[in-house]
Amino acid sequence: MDGNGRWAKRRLMPRKYGHKMGVEALKRVIAACDKLGVKEVSFFALSTENWSRPKDEIDSLLDMIKKFADEEMKEYVGKNYRVRFMGELHRLPLETQRALESIAQAAKDNTGIVVNIGINYGGRDEIARAAEKLVQENLPVTVENINSHLDTAGMHDPDIIVRCAGEKRLSNFMLWQCAYSEFVLIDDYWPDFGEETVMRIIKEYSGRERRFGGLK
Ligand code: FPP
Repeated sequence: MDGNGRWAKRRLMPRKYGHKMGVEALKRVIAACDKLGVKEVSFFALSTENWSRPKDEIDSLLDMIKKFADEEMKEYVGKNYRVRFMGELHRLPLETQRALESIAQAAKDNTGIVVNIGINYGGRDEIARAAEKLVQENLPVTVENINSHLDTAGMHDPDIIVRCAGEKRLSNFMLWQCAYSEFVLIDDYWPDFGEETVMRIIKEYSGRERRFGGLK
């Protein structure tokens, strides 16, 4: 969800305001994905590297995550959305961890759209943790076993990876899962995202030819 800071700066507002408007965009995009028939959608909210930001910014992001859990996520669970998380929640305040864990538990048998949120998430960290679990369970290192021990176990690999705000790198996001994902690069800052952006992304994706390493 890139470009919150730049979006705010352009308006001579603090970065926090950009993140606040980023949360509004998140709500619009989740609603649009559900409406347009997207089956699974993942977001990068907080990375394993984001902790180096000023404490004030991290605290306000953590507050927003807690508020989002108490309000929107609870509503999503009631709407049959399968809310889940990737990343290590243990670095979050205990109260937030508990709220997120109870949401994921309550949503685990839901059958609607999967809304997967990366919090204290890093692709390398996720792969290393999956490998560690294989060692502990004494399982062979196979693609299937790695898949089933990642935070995204049971999910499909993403068809599309969207990078916004003009960025053109993966920044440690779903490194294992993106092997054959189509990349869509968007210049818009995240707080400007909404249903129209989601439609634009799907339209661009629908013109791609996917070969998964084979021949057409
Ligand atoms: C990147 O933009 C954005 C983030 C590091 C935080 C994204 C988080 C939210 C939108 C809100 C909290 C999440 C939930 C699930 C409620 P940036 O700050 O790097 O912007 P810049 O590149 O313009 O500086």
